[in-house]
Amino acid sequence: MDNKRIKNLKKNFKDIYKKNCSYVFEAPGRVNLIGEHTDYNGGFVLPIAIDRSILIAAKPNNENILRLHSLDFNNTITCNLDKIKYDSKNGWANYPLGVAKILQDKGYILKGADLMFEGTIPRGSGLSSSAAIEVVSCIAYEEISKLKIDKKQIPVICQKAENDFIGVKCGIMDQFVITNAKKNSALFLDCRNLKYENITFSDEDVSIVIVDTKLERKLVNSAYNERRQQCEDGVKILKRYIKGIKLLRDVKVADFEKYKSKLPLIVRKRCEHVIYENQRVLDAVRYLKTKNINDFGKLMNESHDSLKNLYEVSCKQLDTLVYSARKVKGVLGSRMTGAGFGGCTVTLVKNESINGLVIKMTEKYISKYNINPNFYISQAENGARKI
Ligand code: GLA
Repeated sequence: MDNKRIKNLKKNFKDIYKKNCSYVFEAPGRVNLIGEHTDYNGGFVLPIAIDRSILIAAKPNNENILRLHSLDFNNTITCNLDKIKYDSKNGWANYPLGVAKILQDKGYILKGADLMFEGTIPRGSGLSSSAAIEVVSCIAYEEISKLKIDKKQIPVICQKAENDFIGVKCGIMDQFVITNAKKNSALFLDCRNLKYENITFSDEDVSIVIVDTKLERKLVNSAYNERRQQCEDGVKILKRYIKGIKLLRDVKVADFEKYKSKLPLIVRKRCEHVIYENQRVLDAVRYLKTKNINDFGKLMNESHDSLKNLYEVSCKQLDTLVYSARKVKGVLGSRMTGAGFGGCTVTLVKNESINGLVIKMTEKYISKYNINPNFYISQAENGARKI
């Protein structure tokens, strides 16, 4: 952890609140290596936490209010604990407020506190700054109010805040990995029962390069909900032919092949992506465990092509980055990551090729869109914690 950041946060806390903070908490952003648009279908995902994070400094205030200050936005939102409700005017503070509200709805008694937020996760880039602020708020409230929240419940509570308070129908992946990630490991999660395994993901010769398209992601929410609906439509039809299925996760590849002709074309394409993507995650985990990083990279490529052609959530900017990366020697795999329609790509690359990769991708992106893309190089980091 960057001590300068913590020092600066503590100093600012003292300047603004005129007292020392009692606690500091941190939650990272995330990038998904493979398993896209599978979480809300009860399927498998394989994300990591990255070295960008959100910090909170906090102190109980013995008043019945939450005082939330953001160093990045330079504003303070104050809210009585008995009167929490969504207000678009509260902007970023709706995330911590939403988590507080869901905790209260579940019967937890919260104490008043002064909190200060600071972050290095780029916003709106698909690296889950919103899930990170939810999770870091949740663990802060837990400590401040001396609650005992089951570790598995933290992501569930934060997802509920995002679904019901913010109004974004996301799956569980982001909040889950941000809570439970382990350094040098990818988190293999079964989204149907929330069983997970931290799988060693550290190869001294290989790095993860994340590249931001810098696109404004206007379409994401409506297209995301539409995809969810199409998956549910698929299950409804397939249920008539395959016994006992509740989610696309329950559909075996062989059964899908047998009955796919019963599905309308668009629904068939969406289902095909999800069902094969689940299989790719299982294969990817096997390759990680046997240190077969080359074949792991090939699965990342297949995942992108499927997201582009079948799930149709890529866009030309993401494709440009992915295809220019794949042309660089030393690149093992490259794909879009997250919901799509902009956001970031994730590329697995041999360390000696990183410089060449950055030059090639930058050249290509500038020549096509006149935009300098942002690069983030990260190892797999730890999940949320008290510092
Ligand atoms: C967003 C959502 C996740 C997941 C991904 C797609 O990041 O928040 O729950 O659905 O999109 O894999």
